[in-house]
Amino acid sequence: MISFYREQGFIVTGASSGIGEGVALLLNELGATVVAIARREDKLNEMKLKAKNPENIFIEVKDLTEDIEGLPLYVKTLRAKYGKFQGMAYCAGLGGIHPLRSVDMETMQKIFAINYFAPVFMAKGFADKRNNTGQRSSMVFIASGGGIHCDPGMTCYSGSKGALIATMQSIAREIAPTGVRVNCVSPSLIETSMAGEIERQYAEGKYPFGLGKVSDVANMIVYLLSEQSKWITAQNYIIDCGAM
Ligand SMILES: NC(=O)c1ccc[n+]([C@@H]2O[C@H](COP(=O)([O-])OP(=O)(O)OC[C@H]3O[C@@H](n4cnc5c(N)ncnc54)[C@H](OP(=O)(O)O)[C@@H]3O)[C@@H](O)[C@H]2O)c1
Repeated sequence: MISFYREQGFIVTGASSGIGEGVALLLNELGATVVAIARREDKLNEMKLKAKNPENIFIEVKDLTEDIEGLPLYVKTLRAKYGKFQGMAYCAGLGGIHPLRSVDMETMQKIFAINYFAPVFMAKGFADKRNNTGQRSSMVFIASGGGIHCDPGMTCYSGSKGALIATMQSIAREIAPTGVRVNCVSPSLIETSMAGEIERQYAEGKYPFGLGKVSDVANMIVYLLSEQSKWITAQNYIIDCGAM
């Protein structure tokens, strides 16, 4: 069974809703300390109210795209405040269907900013040995089934997630000698605010066990953050109910 000590601190981005909220609450329930990051302070506070051990959840309001190159310094300031981190779950992200005819640079940059550039620079910050606990610390990035099996209209989203999967595999192999593990989790449609009407229609009948729940993904992410997965790095786990 997975459990954590209070001294084990985890950064969770996107903790104000959906998968990130689920990961923050599960880590907290299992005993860890969580630094929960998102833009909506009210939603972060609502999440904290649901926590089993609210005294071990610390809220940080931050737009991760406002100064992407400054993110390594941001991680350093978090470490100065909370101590070295055992792990990070990067769950912030932005979806959307954008057929090729509607693609423009502004849309692409907005999606790539939060789905690709920000996680790369958060990884750079976490990988700095002054900020992590070394051996067996772990980063998990939420990519998407759409980063591998790319449906129509996904130029921006699939591009950002495919790039994330490729980059994280490279980073994992580069920093393995430092003891830090890096993995991606790639879900298909999960019941969160990101699962819009069009996505639901598209998924109709595709998943033999129905739409995925946040807990279906959160359990995998927490396993990859835990020492139970100490021999696993540079992987991308598809959670799609066998649909692909
Ligand atoms: N749901 C699915 O079907 C599905 C499938 C595959 C992959 N995913 C991926 O899973 C991840 C989580 O998605 P979700 O389904 O949980 O969606 P969600 O409920 O919409 O959560 C997205 C999170 O990202 C945060 N966020 C967005 N932009 C941000 C920014 N600029 N700075 C800081 N935080 C930001 C949001 O917080 P604030 O708005 O408070 O900032 C929110 O907490 C995403 O990467 C998504 O692509 C989801």
